[in-house]
Amino acid sequence: SEAPLVLGIETSCDETGIGIVRGRELLANVIASSMDEHARYGGVVPEVAARAHLEALRPALTEAIATAGIELSDLDAVAVTSGPGLAGALMVGVGAAKALALSLDKPLYAVNHLVGHVGADVLGEDGPLEYPTIALLVSGGHTSLLLVRDLTSDVELLGETIDDAAGEAFDKVARILGLPYPGGPQIDRAAESGNPKAIRFPRGLTLPKDMDKHRYDFSFSGLKTAVARWVEVRRDAGEEIPISDVAASFREAVVDVLTAKAIAACTDFGIPRLLLGGGVIANARLREVAQQRADAAGIELRIPAFSLCTDNGAMIAALASELIMEGAEPSSLSFGADSTLPV
Ligand code: KG4
Ligand code: ZN
Repeated sequence: SEAPLVLGIETSCDETGIGIVRGRELLANVIASSMDEHARYGGVVPEVAARAHLEALRPALTEAIATAGIELSDLDAVAVTSGPGLAGALMVGVGAAKALALSLDKPLYAVNHLVGHVGADVLGEDGPLEYPTIALLVSGGHTSLLLVRDLTSDVELLGETIDDAAGEAFDKVARILGLPYPGGPQIDRAAESGNPKAIRFPRGLTLPKDMDKHRYDFSFSGLKTAVARWVEVRRDAGEEIPISDVAASFREAVVDVLTAKAIAACTDFGIPRLLLGGGVIANARLREVAQQRADAAGIELRIPAFSLCTDNGAMIAALASELIMEGAEPSSLSFGADSTLPV
């Protein structure tokens, strides 16, 4: 049978994503971000994000259809992120997806946002990913380590952040340093001219100390507090803050712990494959250290194109497309947004 034509809707955080795929072929990936509207608050404001989705959905849908060169009536299915994420933001996408599926009389697939990040890989040019694989997903909203035995049927959460997400930590530290939101790219840039060994910041929940309970979990709030204190003491003493050195040392701490745990998971489970996803993957140092450590451990590292790493609708459509090709039943229309949906 022919590959299914699927439209995916993603509204779990601050990106309104509409993607269209035919099987594993990417036809459109429109992303409208409300990031600028959150800038003056220093982080994503749920109410603002939900409202922005309402406004952005229709134009994004129109643009995606035009880009893909299809009619809505051509679609074989509609897919949507039902969780995890911000409740109000999710609800906008779920409502729109239900309305679309009902009016077109097409099947609807509710999918998990985190599994969607893994699903993005099938749209890449490196050919289909082999399973099992370990996946490290790092963004402003999540920091999760997954063991993916099968994309459509067997995904296990190994660990996640117990406090701040990695991207959130970048944003908060940027704020401490007086850099604008979103802080990730700002810190990344400032770090380029800094010395990563200038300051030894703590690594949260490091290996091998937390061998058992928190082996695959992350913690970044202690690190953020350590940076805040380090800066505060020097500001109080009237000293100039070496922003590049602080940025580089902070970045090194985050990158060290993220890559160490991801590689440890690969080694522990004997899985020579690691997939990265999420907006923090834009971090140059993270990609560099991940590649070095993967090479040293004989692990194949996969990083989808950046437009597929940040939150987007194409990954949601891609995951649903895989489900459809495996004959999975559509979701009943009674599902709702679930902000804490487990994988
Ligand atoms: O996946 P994403 O676009 O969206 C959500 O989390 O919703 O990720 C955005 C996060 C922000 O926290 C941003 O500061 C961070 O990713 N980020 C980075 C970099 N670029 C974006 N963090 C570190 N280094 C970067 N170059
Ligand atoms: Zn995400």
